[in-house]
Amino acid sequence: MKGKRIVLGVTGGIAAYKSAELVRRLAERGAEVQVVMTAAAQHFVTPTTFQALSGRPVRSDLWDDGHAAGMGHIELARWAELVLVAPASADFLARLAHGLADDLLTTLCLASAAPIAAAPAMNQLMWRNAATQFNVDLLERRGVRMLGPGIGEQACGEHGPGRMLEPPELVACAAALLSPAGPLRGRRVMVTAGPTRECIDPVRFVSNRSSGKMGFALAQAMQEAGAEVVLVSGPVSLPSPRGVRRIDVESCDQMYAAVQRELPGTAIFVGTAAVADYRPVCCAEQKIKKSSETMSLELTRTTDILAHVSASPQRPFVVGFAAETHAVEQYARAKLLAKNLDLIAANEVGHRKAFDCDENALLVLWRGGRIELPSSSKLELARALTGLIVERYLEQPDPGERRSASAGEGADGADTARELAAPSGVRAS
Ligand code: PMT
Repeated sequence: MKGKRIVLGVTGGIAAYKSAELVRRLAERGAEVQVVMTAAAQHFVTPTTFQALSGRPVRSDLWDDGHAAGMGHIELARWAELVLVAPASADFLARLAHGLADDLLTTLCLASAAPIAAAPAMNQLMWRNAATQFNVDLLERRGVRMLGPGIGEQACGEHGPGRMLEPPELVACAAALLSPAGPLRGRRVMVTAGPTRECIDPVRFVSNRSSGKMGFALAQAMQEAGAEVVLVSGPVSLPSPRGVRRIDVESCDQMYAAVQRELPGTAIFVGTAAVADYRPVCCAEQKIKKSSETMSLELTRTTDILAHVSASPQRPFVVGFAAETHAVEQYARAKLLAKNLDLIAANEVGHRKAFDCDENALLVLWRGGRIELPSSSKLELARALTGLIVERYLEQPDPGERRSASAGEGADGADTARELAAPSGVRAS
């Protein structure tokens, strides 16, 4: 983001205080940030705070004589490479949707050719209101990118959608938007998604509750970031994301075969699929008949696709998921090391929690780092996660160097994993 010119619009909302951290983080990444505040925003945070953090006088007045000749609203609109409005209030979204231009921020939004992104922040009922949803829909159809909102506790004491995304997520989204051709242009990304089905007999199988939504959202986010995406999916009932090549499989063995076939040339591999850890030792050729009162099914371990990709000679940048009901961070960190991953996204799972629902929350870990992506729609989370993956991927030394660097940590990171405080008696499977 070095030298990138960002107009940060701040509108009136309690989340305006988070924008101070956003300015600091953007500036740390080398971006030039010009803050433009609406009158309402100044009831929440003073311009002095933003001036100190951005190193530039804050702009708020459309009729400021001092700027008219130098950096008036048209110049400001031309200067911007990205207009990011965070927080974006319901009122601001409504005015932008209807082309009202009665203050500096709305005027420069109308006059700018730069991409516009808005991070909505408001009470959950205001967000759900049909008028707001209509305006958001209109803006999105015109190309304004909505970043969030997140879901959770609100300053007003209510719970629901309407929280502004956290500054690190917004920085990652801004970085992706500032890369016009997409930071992953020319790179191939493979994503696995959905459940696998392990055959018991011709009509029965062992499986799980994965709907494929998280993996499909990631495939879409990677495609938006410019990648050529191959999506290897277990049985789900979802339409393919636009521009993504999809390969449908059923069992772990089929998924493994498809992944191996597609691996050469893959720059980033993301294992979102809920692959069965065990399968029946054999699949009966005919339907098993009811006979005794009880019945035992002998199971055997399946191939760990993620671990194989990570250990392969053409090792891409490898991202795993961890689905845990408890001790989420400990188990996820153990998996990160045991499978020698570059990054892992952990989610707390349960019945209709992470699995088979539209929202999720992730804890993202890598060696020496962690970040929490709070509850949000799976697509928003996927975009934020993609931003983090892109950052980490582009920071890596060339793939050859990376392989030898990780080899120095032990054959497969298992020694380090054993040293971890993973709950006793549990393997990082
Ligand atoms: O599909 P949704 O309904 O949207 O739900 C999303 C999700 C909860 C399935 C997703 O967010 C998620 O957590 N995916 C990983 C599920 C899982 O199998 O987690 P795990 O902790 O058991 O496995 C760890 C990693 O190893 C995963 O990246 C998994 O893809 C991989 N693995 C596991 C077993 C195996 N045989 N091969 C693998 O590659």
